Amino acid sequence: SGLHTLAKAAGKLYFGSATDNPELTDTAYVAKLSDNAEFGQITPGNSMKWDATEPTRGTFTFTGGDVVASLAEKNGQLLRGHNCVWYNQLPSWVANGHFTAADLTDVITTHCGTLVGHYKGQIFLGCDQRSVVVNRIARATFLIPSYSEPFNDDGTWRSDVFFNTLGQSYVSIALKAARAADPNAKLYINDYNIEQTGAKSTAMLNLVKQLQADGVPIDGVGFQSHFIVGEVPGSFQTVLEQFTALGLEVAITELDIRMTLPATDALLAQQQKDYQSVVQACMNVQGCVGVTIWDWTDKYSWVPSTFSGQGAALPWDETFNKKPAYSGITAAL
Ligand code: XIL
Repeated sequence: SGLHTLAKAAGKLYFGSATDNPELTDTAYVAKLSDNAEFGQITPGNSMKWDATEPTRGTFTFTGGDVVASLAEKNGQLLRGHNCVWYNQLPSWVANGHFTAADLTDVITTHCGTLVGHYKGQIFLGCDQRSVVVNRIARATFLIPSYSEPFNDDGTWRSDVFFNTLGQSYVSIALKAARAADPNAKLYINDYNIEQTGAKSTAMLNLVKQLQADGVPIDGVGFQSHFIVGEVPGSFQTVLEQFTALGLEVAITELDIRMTLPATDALLAQQQKDYQSVVQACMNVQGCVGVTIWDWTDKYSWVPSTFSGQGAALPWDETFNKKPAYSGITAAL
């Protein structure tokens, strides 16, 4: 038993969790996170982001990211990198910079290339479950979402320093830099609200098709899946299949399912069903490589501090007891 053990037995690469550096001082927390019967993969929640890794131009600090990478290696867990280019959690020199197109191209190329290059040594990459490389995964794997959240919910491009300076070419600049730094790294684009058919998932499909047509490296799409209890989209599996039909792999990269507090038995029962249906969607799609929850315990969830009055979004409660949601996941695996 254990979520990762069950996921592997069912043909997936991993079941995993995000984590974050501050909570690694909690020894009971680390003990559970390190149990690779439950978690065969971890993602750093913050410490590989741009503000953490290149706070001033050309000065790189990988201290926090390295702690998470070392933990993964020690635990025999795969590691997903997170992330290379994103409009959020940027240092001010990027967010407020006034760059020419040529200068910003250089900034992105240096950032993504240095980040991916830094983790190259410990990376074993390749997680296409249709191929033999799966068998060679023995230690830490770095799967880097090369960039994140390009779209508004209506499918138009997000207005940020990257798009406003470079148009959509910033995506290929980032992906090419990552590929050059580590040819074996799996390159993902990650977004939210693309889990249902509609304008935003169509925009992502069109982007991916364009990248493929242009010969830009892209291996997978990550579905963040920050859901609300009772509102998991019914078309999720269909969307996953639309992407795998393009020859991509897909992954559920940041799953949590929040509720308006206080948690009641009825809400927890609905949450159990919701976790089951999300994990089932991945199980039903061969090219879905794994599921990552955005931390495993409500004690360290990002939800209460981000969505006022909401929480209880994860399968373990604040005192590390399994909630009904846990049984929802195991029922799908
Ligand atoms: C969140 C972290 O969990 C928080 O600690 C931080 O304050 C804000 O970012 N989508 C993403 C993640 O891609 O990087 C975000 O993580 C959650 C939303």
